[in-house]
Amino acid sequence: PPDLDSVTVQLSALGLATTIPAFDGVQLYPEYNPVDIYRAYIIDEVRKATGVEPAIINGAIAWTQDLKHGDLVLPVPALRLKGKKPDEMAKEIAEKFECPLIQKPTADKTFVRFFFEPTPYAKLVLKYVLRQSSHYGFNAKLGLEDPSDAKSRKKKVVVEYSSPNIAKEFHTGHLRSTIIGGFLIKLYAAAGWDTLSMNYLGDWGKQYGVLSQGFDKYGSPEELERDPIKHLNEVYVKINQDNAEEQKPLKPLNEKKEELEKLKAPPKPIKAKKGQPPPPPVEHKWTDEQESELQAVIAEIEKTQEQLVAIPSIDEKARQFFKRMVDGDPEALKYWQRFRDLSIEAYKHMYSRLNIAFDEYSGESQVLPKDMDLAADVLEKKGISEESKGAVIVDLSKHGAPTLGKTLVKKRDGTSLYLTRDIAANYERFEKHHFDKMIYVIASQQDVHVAQFFKILELMGAPYSEAVAKCEHITFGMVKDPKGQTMSTRKGTVVSLADSLDAAKDFMHDVMKKNTEKYEQVEKPEETADTLAISAIMVQDYSGKRINGYNFDMDKMTSFEGDTGPYLQYSHARVCSMERKAGLSRETLLAADMSLITAKEGIELVRTLAQWPDVFLNTYKTREPVTVLTYLFKMTHLLSSCYDAKDTNNKNAKTMSVMYAETPEKKAALMALYDSARQVLNNGMKLLGLTPVERM
Ligand code: ARG
Repeated sequence: PPDLDSVTVQLSALGLATTIPAFDGVQLYPEYNPVDIYRAYIIDEVRKATGVEPAIINGAIAWTQDLKHGDLVLPVPALRLKGKKPDEMAKEIAEKFECPLIQKPTADKTFVRFFFEPTPYAKLVLKYVLRQSSHYGFNAKLGLEDPSDAKSRKKKVVVEYSSPNIAKEFHTGHLRSTIIGGFLIKLYAAAGWDTLSMNYLGDWGKQYGVLSQGFDKYGSPEELERDPIKHLNEVYVKINQDNAEEQKPLKPLNEKKEELEKLKAPPKPIKAKKGQPPPPPVEHKWTDEQESELQAVIAEIEKTQEQLVAIPSIDEKARQFFKRMVDGDPEALKYWQRFRDLSIEAYKHMYSRLNIAFDEYSGESQVLPKDMDLAADVLEKKGISEESKGAVIVDLSKHGAPTLGKTLVKKRDGTSLYLTRDIAANYERFEKHHFDKMIYVIASQQDVHVAQFFKILELMGAPYSEAVAKCEHITFGMVKDPKGQTMSTRKGTVVSLADSLDAAKDFMHDVMKKNTEKYEQVEKPEETADTLAISAIMVQDYSGKRINGYNFDMDKMTSFEGDTGPYLQYSHARVCSMERKAGLSRETLLAADMSLITAKEGIELVRTLAQWPDVFLNTYKTREPVTVLTYLFKMTHLLSSCYDAKDTNNKNAKTMSVMYAETPEKKAALMALYDSARQVLNNGMKLLGLTPVERM
């Protein structure tokens, strides 16, 4: 854990007491966050001037939209003071305020604006960044049961994400869940939680009976070994086509039957409009010829069905096969186990390209029948479920959730369902992991499903209701193609995750090759292209709020201009290259004289770097990756504006260029600033799951 010693030395040099003010009921983290030192002094001074409770003052102090309005601001009405007019009070607070770290505050209507003294601020902030380096901004106390007690227990969070279905396509919904879930794990880990990454595979159900038959017919053990995900998907698509083919003769007959039945049904009477006479009854014709036609169609359907039944259909065989799997027949399970094992191996490889590793591969197949029986018992005994046509349903409208409707919990043949498995799986995870929080990262198409199984768990009472009280669904919008159309395997727009990653990589590689000179300097161009492509995909995903969907646009996301992944990478690599050329030691940077940074761009960059711990804290509240991203773009734009900054006190053009620095001291100060910016960028990128590159 970081210590405050070096900070207090600096404070005493400024004539301040070496103990930073602390207040009951106010949680500040001065060891992680330089701005919290300033908060402490502001609270102290404002308290002296007004007598308001420190917690209220702390709650009132806010960020400004733009640093030109101050580093921090105090909206006086938020102090809830009775009597004095807020604008007068603002003046009074500003008047009485005294702290060597902060300039005389300005009273602006009902606001008190605080501008921090630039030089001590720069010294302090850069020390935080350079000392805490890869930890700067993160706050490992947030995940403690009691943040004020460093020895208290770490809380545990389980994040279930990605969760693809074996043999079915790994679609963009799974990709988004993977990216967002990976981010959440990194976020909670940086906040000091104990984390567990869980992948809940779709690996159970009748479709695995279909797949096994398909493998007998179309499978190749070599292909399976080579590319299990693709091969299983191909086999699955083929056998499903056969299945559809089998059902084909019935289709036109069923359609004809439906059409005739519609004609036969008496038309609904048209309701009278308000204040008008009722319309005449609609005439209904149904002739004898039509009736005999309908009977003929029904007979034909029955005959065809008999023929279909005589040759056991794929569907029926799949049902039988899956039944054997459920009963634990080792022969039936042999294939399935192999499909599962090989698929997991292939997934692991893809996930590692995205900087993601799962602690646990669970799946629908792993949910124990005894736990589903137990849940079914509770549902029945508590009168939550009911029988309906031989199946078991829960009518949520009878239990205070009219919008969630009815849902099936057990099929007529007694087999379990997606929903039943989710209910039992939730209970099993709570028993096993004793989590303080569990997050399900699932696409918005399943909002109703999740709301249903959460509601059912709540109705079931303890321990189910206790577990679900700690659960949360993090939903997200859909990814579409560049024209805004849904993407799917059938349309050929998406094949598999590996294929989309490869396509993005090739695309990025071509972009890189266009700059021959630079390209030749990159050591491992293929690897770099892969890293850049993945950054491009992830940043595009993070560019809006999670709930908004977006269009998967290769041209846009791989561009070096605009707010893209490659732009962030470029900003990072550019500082790395400067550092290689400057060749200054860490000690030199730590000892740099920050009073030499006088250009307004430089000062603003320091002030922005100081905000990073607060941005992290805010991200921890919003859990929106865009909170990090917006900050990183603002910061990197500022960084790049420094490169050609002109100093008002110094007529030199490019006064912030390391290469043209007037003295070694100036060079060290600039490099310390740029290295700090690079470090913050690096920390932010890693939090987002990106791999910062040093050359590109
Ligand atoms: N395998 C599912 C699908 O692809 C997603 C699983 C989400 N998680 C859950 N607990 N239901 O649609």
